[in-house]
Amino acid sequence: MVAASALMRTGGRVDAPAAAQDPRLGLLLASGGDDRIWLDPVTRRNRYGAPGKPAPDELWFSSSTASPVSPRGWAAAGEALGQLVEGRSLTIGGWFDSLRRRLLALYGAPGAEAVLAASGTEAELVVLGLALSLAEGPLVNIVVAPAETGSGVPAAASGQHFLGRASLGAEVTKGGRLAGWDDAEVTLETVEIREPGGALRAQSDVDQEAAERVGRAVAGGAFALLHVLDASKTGRPGVSRAAAAEILARHSGRVLVVVDACQLRCPPRAIRDDLAQGFAVMVTGSKFAGGPAFCGALLLPAAMTERLAARPPCGAPLAPYSAALDWPARLRPAGLAHVANLGLGLRWSAALAEIEAFEATPAARRAAVLDQFERSVRGRVAADPGLELIDHGLRPEAPGLVPVFHADRCDPRPAYEALARGDGGGRLCHLGQPVMIGRRAALRVCASMPMITGAVRHGCAEVEAGLDQLFESWARLRG
Ligand SMILES: Cc1ncc(COP(=O)(O)O)c(C=O)c1O
Repeated sequence: MVAASALMRTGGRVDAPAAAQDPRLGLLLASGGDDRIWLDPVTRRNRYGAPGKPAPDELWFSSSTASPVSPRGWAAAGEALGQLVEGRSLTIGGWFDSLRRRLLALYGAPGAEAVLAASGTEAELVVLGLALSLAEGPLVNIVVAPAETGSGVPAAASGQHFLGRASLGAEVTKGGRLAGWDDAEVTLETVEIREPGGALRAQSDVDQEAAERVGRAVAGGAFALLHVLDASKTGRPGVSRAAAAEILARHSGRVLVVVDACQLRCPPRAIRDDLAQGFAVMVTGSKFAGGPAFCGALLLPAAMTERLAARPPCGAPLAPYSAALDWPARLRPAGLAHVANLGLGLRWSAALAEIEAFEATPAARRAAVLDQFERSVRGRVAADPGLELIDHGLRPEAPGLVPVFHADRCDPRPAYEALARGDGGGRLCHLGQPVMIGRRAALRVCASMPMITGAVRHGCAEVEAGLDQLFESWARLRG
């Protein structure tokens, strides 16, 4: 029998401070986010099936989409809340500064800054706001593989509300432009990484298309915001960093490159290198990092922070999403209506505790556990005639993410939902949300930082037992 703490265990018992026992902590953790993280009043779970507190008795292979707060994260958020409530050591501004400092200690380069955002999609709104202030005119936003990033990203990248409620609570019109951006000349263009049928395009074709699109935008008098996709929802890269560096050099001053590292499946070194070569980077603490849904950040390279400090962006359009203390003082825009997003600070407190624990674990041991996880999942898929690896088994470049088709081409979404309800028997099993590849939907079996850190400390037996149950339940549900 597998211990109940199984996959969510994060290195032994985590003694929770008094504030972490507070049921209100769960509610606060789900505050200051858009509709996606609100807890349903009946199920007490968010849209992704995650409750507002740790759920160690369930199997969480869902880090490509969302996870519940981990025990370590819950303790860290409780500690932070306790310090704020009791007025121990930190002012609220000092607390947000310290969250940014910790993020930059992990991922920053000299002179870099971090702006917190309520999710990866909200980070897209922030980078668009910064690009508009640099553009001073028409802007072409070039997004890579929109079907394999967040579903709200194309709307956000066009300057539109992507849901009916903004993260700081205001009701907004989904699809409507953010107030103040009504007349902004923003054009969305996309570069696909797959053919319409789902086959992967050659990297050189993707790079060439990106270069041509930026070239056309700049020649037409526009400013270009070019996305580089570090890892898509299926673990595939988009425009290469080398191509983006060339494009940036060729059109210096008229293009901003932003790396979408929202899955956070690349090593910190890659993000530091991105910042060092002048790219902005979007990250989240709520995908591979295993922090609670959702917390994002936009990391800005030194050269950009200097330009923006000289010409701060207009904050008013971002006011429904962005609080003043999300920003470092020298870049803080005027016109932000809310002072602080407490829920976001708590979610980042939880996520940073997991990221720091992961980074403190020896790299070779982490890599070995991740490798074993992937081999185990891939082996189980290969042994099951009802399942099939996507991309003809080509290994995703991003670690800890294995997308799987149903071999009979039947829609896997009912199985995804049934697994989350526990219909297959045993514990509730959570996978990454279905993602469309061509005309077929794939489910994703994912590892997370808490899972890997726990397995390095305690061995892989509990992860393997969880995978046993997942694949048995999945087979039963397919009949
Ligand atoms: C590559 C990528 N970018 C951006 C996002 C959007 O992030 P969020 O879900 O935090 O809004 C996602 C979400 O899955 C993603 O996979």
